Amino acid sequence: MERSFVMVKPDGVQRGLVGEVISRFERRGLKLVAAKLMTVSRELAEEHYGEHKAKPFFPGLVNFITSGPVMAMVWEGPNAIAMIRKTMGATNPANAEPGTIRADLACDMSFNIVHGSDGPESAAREIGLWFGEVGASYEKAVDKWVTGK
Ligand code: RTP
Ligand code: MG
Repeated sequence: MERSFVMVKPDGVQRGLVGEVISRFERRGLKLVAAKLMTVSRELAEEHYGEHKAKPFFPGLVNFITSGPVMAMVWEGPNAIAMIRKTMGATNPANAEPGTIRADLACDMSFNIVHGSDGPESAAREIGLWFGEVGASYEKAVDKWVTGK
């Protein structure tokens, strides 16, 4: 089992797409293990996107992420990190495959609805940064129909 940090960005919250994003991950069989709607401080936004600090788009990205509430979540499942990235689609919605969240719901690189951790290290870092400790998972009656376990 793997966990990933996912965030519906301010554009997704404003456009009423929180339920749509959650629904897509739920229907894939992933399990929601933590969630909170919150406004992001500049400090948290800068830390979260620290890898992009030197990039020209960094100030705009921090302004965007702090511009309204986001839905921060932790999702769990087999290969959750890669599965979520594929379900999200390419960073630029213009290059995203049809059927992905970004292709179906967005049309601009700066307003691409959703964030998902890009690897196991960033997932662990981001879950710690946004949630601290996330407790044990829980069982669902359908688990055996989703993963066979
Ligand atoms: P995210 O971190 O938000 O999930 O997106 P990502 O991994 O697909 O893309 P990443 O390279 O980490 O970039 C973070 C966010 O910065 C914006 N961006 N703008 N103007 C540009 O060249 C540019 N490049 C990236 C995007 O909004 C991207 O989601
Ligand atoms: Mg990224």
